[in-house]
Amino acid sequence: MGKVLENKKVSKDFFLMKVEQKNQALMGQFYMLRAWEQYPVLSRPVSIYDRDDNTVTFLYKAVGKGTEIFSRLKKDDEIKIDGPYGNTFPYVEGRIALVGGGVGIAPLFYTAKELKKQNPESNITIYLGFSDEAVLTEEFKTVGDRIITNVGGFITDEINPEEYDAILTCGPLPMMRVLYEKGKDTKAEIYVSMENRMACGVGACLVCTCKTASGNKKVCKDGPVFPAKEVFYDESK
Ligand SMILES: Cc1cc2nc3c(=O)[nH]c(=O)nc-3n(C[C@H](O)[C@H](O)[C@H](O)COP(=O)(O)OP(=O)(O)OC[C@H]3O[C@@H](n4cnc5c(N)ncnc54)[C@H](O)[C@@H]3O)c2cc1C
Ligand code: FES
Repeated sequence: MGKVLENKKVSKDFFLMKVEQKNQALMGQFYMLRAWEQYPVLSRPVSIYDRDDNTVTFLYKAVGKGTEIFSRLKKDDEIKIDGPYGNTFPYVEGRIALVGGGVGIAPLFYTAKELKKQNPESNITIYLGFSDEAVLTEEFKTVGDRIITNVGGFITDEINPEEYDAILTCGPLPMMRVLYEKGKDTKAEIYVSMENRMACGVGACLVCTCKTASGNKKVCKDGPVFPAKEVFYDESK
């Protein structure tokens, strides 16, 4: 169990929730959260937006029953927090683009912090795409060298993959696919963080299975981060 320290609305339907939890979580990992007894049956996977040794902060969008319950939590309420689970974004260096669409921006905040801490010489551009309202852009300015925001259009139009050594992305599958198609013939290494629906979160149920170039993988256990070419491979080859 963790204790909610803060749960604030940051836009029409995005919330930031800080939870007391000792941890050594890594960038790109996620927790399974629940704040109810029986219904909904399943805990909900949510990425690490930020963390320190004693707290984890989540950025979530209220889209259904579970996240709506999260949005009503108050300071000092208890929340069940299991994890951290999953693999991490790779510790890439050099000219790096972090590209997020919608709530896919969530894992990029702590990732930018960690990559800069690992190599202060790295140059990090953060691309944030939103359908109707930009969220947390001022906060992202504190962790990136350059922030590029697109509201209502396609964030993938803003990026030239040739400028980068590595591109890490999280967001809707069509967005990540376009990014891969744009960048696949450049020197940029491209990694995607997948947000498949999950049930157990620990590799036991196969609900989160995704097809990859090297066979079926469990997003919760083998991912959520994969090389983009593993996910967007050409099945005809
Ligand atoms: C590894 C991982 C990390 C994630 N990180 C975050 C995060 O940091 N912040 C965040 O807000 N969300 C994140 N998600 C998505 C989040 O888990 C879902 O939005 C949440 O489970 C919805 O629960 P609900 O009960 O509110 O909605 P439900 O009532 O279950 O569903 C409401 C609507 O949301 C859709 N939906 C539910 N889950 C997903 C999903 N995984 N992908 C796309 N659509 C979905 C449903 O189809 C339905 O239309 C992540 C998912 C994964 C797998
Ligand atoms: S959610 Fe059960 S195996 Fe991934």
